[in-house]
Amino acid sequence: MCRKEAFKLIWNESVDILLVDDQPENLLALESVLDCSGYNLVKANSGVEALRCLLKRDFAVIVLDVQMPGMDGFETAQWIKSREKTKAIPIIFITASTREEEFAFTAYSVGAIDFMVKPFSPTILKSKIEGFVQMHKIQKKLQLQTELLNQQTEEMQVAKEAAEAAAKAKSEFLAIMSHEIRTPMNGVIAMADLLLETELTQDQRDYAETIHKSGNALLLIINDILDLSKMESGKMELFEEPFDLSDCIGETLDLFSLDCRKKSLDLIYNIDPKIPENLLGDVVRLRQILLNLVGNAVKFTESGRIDVFVRLKETKGNSLEVEFTVRDTGIGIDEIFINRLFQPFSQSDSSTTRKFGGTGLGLAISKSLVELMSGTIGVKRNDGPGTSFIFTVLLYKAH
Ligand SMILES: Nc1ncnc2c1ncn2[C@@H]1O[C@H](COP(=O)(O)OP(=O)(O)OP(=O)(O)O)[C@@H](O)[C@H]1O
Ligand SMILES: [Mg+2]
Repeated sequence: MCRKEAFKLIWNESVDILLVDDQPENLLALESVLDCSGYNLVKANSGVEALRCLLKRDFAVIVLDVQMPGMDGFETAQWIKSREKTKAIPIIFITASTREEEFAFTAYSVGAIDFMVKPFSPTILKSKIEGFVQMHKIQKKLQLQTELLNQQTEEMQVAKEAAEAAAKAKSEFLAIMSHEIRTPMNGVIAMADLLLETELTQDQRDYAETIHKSGNALLLIINDILDLSKMESGKMELFEEPFDLSDCIGETLDLFSLDCRKKSLDLIYNIDPKIPENLLGDVVRLRQILLNLVGNAVKFTESGRIDVFVRLKETKGNSLEVEFTVRDTGIGIDEIFINRLFQPFSQSDSSTTRKFGGTGLGLAISKSLVELMSGTIGVKRNDGPGTSFIFTVLLYKAH
């Protein structure tokens, strides 16, 4: 049954009301007052009889005579209020004198208790009962809502666990597959290398070079997928080693000198002199981030320049927070795409792969690597043309 139907059912279902009085004529009088209101009226002629009824079913309201032989109204109420299942049922006492009414208030001032002095006005009794019945229905609705919420939370927990297990299985599968594909791929590239060293006709050379180039491109993708799946399954680890920052940047940028020359792009870097030369950190992964960002800058810039700035942001004892900026004068990034930029396989539009190549993994991997190095990465549009990617990482002074 859906939620709406369940609520409707609560609202429309007829409620049970317990009338307790030792005098049959009083019970009849109560019955005649309430008869046309659509309630199920259950009559009990003693306290004990009332308790018996309460053990069998749930009531919205109890109308209880105070003076009864044996167990009187107050004793009956005490028993009702002491039981977990019945303690919330509102009780309307029918008392004969105002002295009893005082007693009722001191004994049961804990809410949901009312009283009426005989002879009472039928209209007032009816409206009091109607009020309590409404309260009862609202309470039931809330109860149902809580149960549904608990059920939903449980279902969501189960779904979350299943999704996590599926994501883990996917990452593990990718990690194994990429690893398995990498080994034969290295063989293909090495053999193409050897083939290129032999005497070949021009056509054969072209074919071997294409095998070599395609093999390398495929290896890059496989490595990216391997990195991403390692990070997703939390298995990526950093290795600290001493390195020279300007060597690291110089060598990285050298890889793009040919591409930049072809496009007549200036590729310039500047390192804050406050940064010590010898540092400690995972230089391989730092180079990977830079390769990615500079690679993007070169790829998406047709004219102008690419600048790499490195500055010391903060020093805390032996650790240095170093900020890198890669600024280009390229095609820029659309505001709407910026939010998705660092997600795996996201590219500004479907024509990017065709026009520029790539799979949209570079920035997602860079972000994870930066975070592993206790840093952050962000992007901003330049005042002029192009984009600036800025990231920080934590490096250490080498002794
Ligand atoms: N410097 C930049 N200028 C303009 N757009 C950029 C720049 N850097 C990234 N982008 C946009 O962000 C997308 C994602 O970049 P990312 O490096 O993750 O993937 P890719 O370069 O397309 O492929 P891969 O890095 O996997 O080879 C790019 O496809 C491009 O649309
Ligand atoms: Mg890239």
